[in-house]
Amino acid sequence: MKGLILSGGKGTRLYPLTYTRAKQLIPVANKPILFRVIEAIRDAGITDIGIVVGDTAEEIKATVGRGNRWGVRITYIHQPQPLGLAHAVKVSRDYLGDEPFVMFLGDNVIQGGITELVRQFQESDWNAQIVLTRVDHPEQYGVAVLNGEGRVVRLIEKPKEPPSDLALVGIYMFDHHIHQAVDEIQPSWRGELEITDAIQWLVEHDYKVFPYIHRGWWIDTGKPGDMLEANSMVLQELTPVIEGFVDRDSEVDCRVTVEKGAEIINSVVRGPTIIGERSRIVNSYIGPFTSIYHDVVVENSEIERSIVLENSVIRDLPARLQDSLIGRNVVLTRSPMKPKAFKMNLGDYSQVGVL
Ligand code: DAU
Repeated sequence: MKGLILSGGKGTRLYPLTYTRAKQLIPVANKPILFRVIEAIRDAGITDIGIVVGDTAEEIKATVGRGNRWGVRITYIHQPQPLGLAHAVKVSRDYLGDEPFVMFLGDNVIQGGITELVRQFQESDWNAQIVLTRVDHPEQYGVAVLNGEGRVVRLIEKPKEPPSDLALVGIYMFDHHIHQAVDEIQPSWRGELEITDAIQWLVEHDYKVFPYIHRGWWIDTGKPGDMLEANSMVLQELTPVIEGFVDRDSEVDCRVTVEKGAEIINSVVRGPTIIGERSRIVNSYIGPFTSIYHDVVVENSEIERSIVLENSVIRDLPARLQDSLIGRNVVLTRSPMKPKAFKMNLGDYSQVGVL
């Protein structure tokens, strides 16, 4: 069995962060989402993994490499344009051959991994198995309808009037019949070849499509609110370790991880929280559900339930920074210069909420 991770696309909903970075590489609890996906597939016993890449190919290749660090073999598959999830399967045809495979969207985080799903599919004679979970707003997702025997009978992509609350999580098991399905379907109203339509084709041609109902948490990290939510969930599951330095004037509770080379000086850090390698927290308060990534400086400031990416500096803030996503190399500080005013240099699509 092979793994196929979809990591193409542009991530427009996460602008401005994704202007300069692939959304799959944004860290959740200081680990890129894509790394979490690779680990989930590897933990299910699959070591041959294809990653579909598009515009951000170079960055993804440079960060992920050939897979040695996870003990897997990674092959990159180029998708010239993000023409849909089923199109991504099409361009992977040669790589996949006739083997069954698990397809995993590279921007999804789920609790508990996929080992049980892969085992179930391997032991069955099903042609496809799709992971579903109950959600409050099914209209934002692909939605499935099951019959009395629990078999999938209908799938619709982002329906205005959802026929059920069972959303498609971005994880799918397929045998080789999916290749015929992706060849038969037409682009949807949004101009994409939808994997939902390809699975619907399987259903209509009497192939066996069964669900796997996921009961833990699942977050599609496509939106900033979701990133903070995903970060909070994953932080709660970390086993805390203190590998960095905490001085005697600081208070760091037992749910905090301090990575190598990080320093906590005269500060209070409440977990679940992670402070990344070589970051310095000085005279500050870092509250629960915060991930400070590598080489960040926080001085005389308070931060809670936020993500701060590498090389940023946060200094002398007059109020607490909360529910925020701060990109790389950002400088956020109080200005001593007159006149007293907010002075900003923000990229396109930035969102700032002031006091
Ligand atoms: O997250 C779950 C949802 O994912 C499902 O409920 C939907 O049925 C499914 O269509 C998908 O919807 P999205 O609109 O959220 O998909 P998105 O465009 O965000 O793409 C998901 C991932 O696949 C993302 O990592 C980028 C990658 N991708 C996307 C496209 C369109 C590709 O690699 N190639 C593509 O052509």
